[in-house]
Amino acid sequence: MAVRIVLGTQWGDEGKGKIVDLLSANADIVARYQGGANAGHSIVINGSKIILHLIPSGILHDQTLCVIGNGVVVDPQALFEEIESLAANGITTDGRLLISDRAHLIMPYHQAMDAAKEQTYKIGTTGRGIGPAYVDKANRTGVRMVDLLNDDVLVKKIRDNVDEKNLILKNIYNQPTLNADHIIDKYREYARKLQPYIIDTSFYLHKAIQSNKQILIEGAQGTLLDMDFGTYPFVTSSNPISGGACVGLGISPMVIDEVIGIIKAYTTRVGSGPFPTEENYEMGELLRKLGNEFGATTGRPRRCGWFDLVVARHAIRLSGIQKLAITKLDVLDSLEEISICTAYKCGNKRIEDFPADVTILEQCEPEYTTMPGWKTSTREARTFEDLPKNAQKYLQTIEKMTGTRASIISVGEDRNQTIVRDA
Ligand code: GDP
Ligand code: IMO
Ligand code: MG
Repeated sequence: MAVRIVLGTQWGDEGKGKIVDLLSANADIVARYQGGANAGHSIVINGSKIILHLIPSGILHDQTLCVIGNGVVVDPQALFEEIESLAANGITTDGRLLISDRAHLIMPYHQAMDAAKEQTYKIGTTGRGIGPAYVDKANRTGVRMVDLLNDDVLVKKIRDNVDEKNLILKNIYNQPTLNADHIIDKYREYARKLQPYIIDTSFYLHKAIQSNKQILIEGAQGTLLDMDFGTYPFVTSSNPISGGACVGLGISPMVIDEVIGIIKAYTTRVGSGPFPTEENYEMGELLRKLGNEFGATTGRPRRCGWFDLVVARHAIRLSGIQKLAITKLDVLDSLEEISICTAYKCGNKRIEDFPADVTILEQCEPEYTTMPGWKTSTREARTFEDLPKNAQKYLQTIEKMTGTRASIISVGEDRNQTIVRDA
């Protein structure tokens, strides 16, 4: 398969980092198409963990070239911190990282606006300035990578934006204002350091696709955080679904060969917003403890609950997912019983399709089917047949009820704790 998209099907943190790293062994190029440093993608190799926020999760394989596409919002400070931390681990990004000239930059006023807005309207964002950066993009006032190459444009854009944002910060949010000169100095320095990475990545990918290169496209966040199809307004400000990859990389839908959905064997969510299968008491606590469910970017405890087929079917339909990578199966190893939500009950209505209205969603009660657990460790399993029968049945139920194939099954955080059936 030449061009494959790997994306999140739930509320993020499904294990995209682990699976993208695994599949990168055969990739020439790994590309990100949306989001920014709100993402936290963990990769564990022989017990040591690396968390990537902006750089694609293929960087740990020497042969890959990594692309940050036009749809990503790039915080230069976070990017350089990541480049340095990779270098400290012996991984070089020199000549292996390209950034789209059309990608927008995160500016200090975006982080200030993100924090200020959270005080009045709490989405529970990661505080990385993501929403305000995409607002500027849509408002046609954003600073793009290409602007770093033109000092006059850069200076004017920063001054105009700082003037506007300072009015809002001071008068609406009663927050301290920012100094344009400091920001200009800082971004001139970034311009000097970023210059070697900036190119027209859409054109680069076009040529790579023509020469049949193996391209892996890495989603950030997940379907239920999608700005259009997630639990709006409790979403991120980009489109993690597969359609976002075409826009966020400047590639045609005709070149996509395969879409792989990453799905946890249960469900988690960080931040505010509806979560029908959330377990608020002991079971939620237990899943959090067993799955070590704390955010890779903010360290916040993740909300935990059961696997949700309404969510899975929504994600599969929206992105045209053909294969699933089911992760964290091992987290369920010790449970007596495991529940799967098959539909929602809302008043006297049974809902099988994910509703648009969060006020309806909040009233929905999950309808569960319960399966016996397997009470055996799956962490050493390397083939489907190695798995206990009840674990096989659990996976087969998900396959049957979603009409997709569990092509990859992850049974531990480490790269090698994986069952690859047909990826
Ligand atoms: P991402 O944002 O989708 O890349 O996921 P995160 O890295 O934020 O969160 C997934 C967490 O689960 C990380 O700590 C991973 O190391 C861990 N993880 C991934 N797959 C598995 C698995 O199969 N079993 C267990 N126990 N942990 C896993
Ligand atoms: P990865 O790629 C989980 C959530 C935030 C918040 C909402 C909006 O690691 O799966 P934002 O900062 O984007 O404006 O926050 O989206 N969120 C994530 N949750 N995983 C992520 O990324 C997330 N990125 C954003 O918690 O609810
Ligand atoms: Mg994450």
